[in-house]
Amino acid sequence: MIVNVPNPVIEVHDLTVIYNRKPALWDADFTIPKGKLVGIVGPNGAGKSTLIKAIMGLVPLSSGHAELFGKPLDEVRQKVSYVPQRESVDWDFPASALDVVLMGRYRHTGLFRRISKKDRNIAFECLKKVRMEAFANRQIAQLSGGQQQRVFLARALAQQADIYLMDEPFAGIDATTESAIVDLLFEMRSEGKTIMVVHHDLESAYEYFDWFVLLNTRLVACGPKEEVFTQDLLVETYGGKMNVLAKIGELIRENTFPVREDNSPLR
Ligand SMILES: Nc1ncnc2c1ncn2[C@@H]1O[C@H](COP(=O)(O)OP(=O)(O)O)[C@@H](O)[C@H]1O
Ligand SMILES: [Mg+2]
Repeated sequence: MIVNVPNPVIEVHDLTVIYNRKPALWDADFTIPKGKLVGIVGPNGAGKSTLIKAIMGLVPLSSGHAELFGKPLDEVRQKVSYVPQRESVDWDFPASALDVVLMGRYRHTGLFRRISKKDRNIAFECLKKVRMEAFANRQIAQLSGGQQQRVFLARALAQQADIYLMDEPFAGIDATTESAIVDLLFEMRSEGKTIMVVHHDLESAYEYFDWFVLLNTRLVACGPKEEVFTQDLLVETYGGKMNVLAKIGELIRENTFPVREDNSPLR
C-alpha cells in the first residue's frame, strides 16, 4: 500500500543502498506531503537509518534518487535538517552544549562570518525548547545520553529548516522529556514543517504520527496512519518477530489500534 501525493516535499524514487553486496534498502519508492509528522517504523536492521542517510546523501546509492522540494539535496540543503542516531556520533570533542547548537547556525552565517548575538539568542532559545538551557556551558562529553540527544535536537531546531529527518530522537530519554519533545514536534507541524522520525515503539507511534513509512529492507507501505498502520501491514513489516506481534495483539485487544473489519484480532 503506497499512497502517492500531489506536490510532495519529499520524493524517493527506486532508492537502493547495498553494503558489502547485502542490500540494506531495496528499491524504495514513496512521496511525503508537506506538513506531516511521519513515523519510519520497522524491525532492527530494516534500513531505517540507511533510508534517512540516503535521503541526506550520506551513503552511496546503488540506484535511485531522492528529491526535496522537487530538487536535489544540494540545492536545498539549508532547508533540511538531520538528527543522527546518537550512537553514531563521536562525543569526545571539546565543545559546550551551546557550541553544538550554534553549529546549527553556520549554514545561515557561512563559515567565515562571525556568530552574532542574534545567533546566540536563537541557539539559547532552542536549548530552552528541549529543556537544556541549564546545561548551556556544560561540555557535551559530560552530558548523559538523553541530554546529548536533546542538544542534538536543539542544534537541528537552530537551523530553522523546513524538513527535519530525525533518527530515534527518543532513544535514552525519560518519559517527561519525550512528551515535551512530542509537543514540540506537534508545534513544528502546525508551523508547516515536515518531519520524518525513526521510531521503534509501536505503542506510542499511532498517537505521535499522522503518516507512516513501514520498512523492512523493502518498503512495505507508506501513507496516512489510518490506511497504513494496520494489523496485516505491521505483521508484514515485522515478519516473524513474535514478541512484537504479541505486542500488536495486545494493543488490538485494548482497542487502541485500528483493525480492518475483515481481520480478526491477532491472538
Ligand atoms: N556502514 C555499514 N556497513 C555495512 N553494513 C551496514 C552499514 N550500516 C548498516 N549496515 C547494515 O545494513 C542494514 C540496515 O541497517 P540500518 O539502516 O542501520 O537499520 P535500522 O536503522 O533499521 O536498524 C543492517 O543489516 C546493518 O547491519
Ligand atoms: Mg537505525
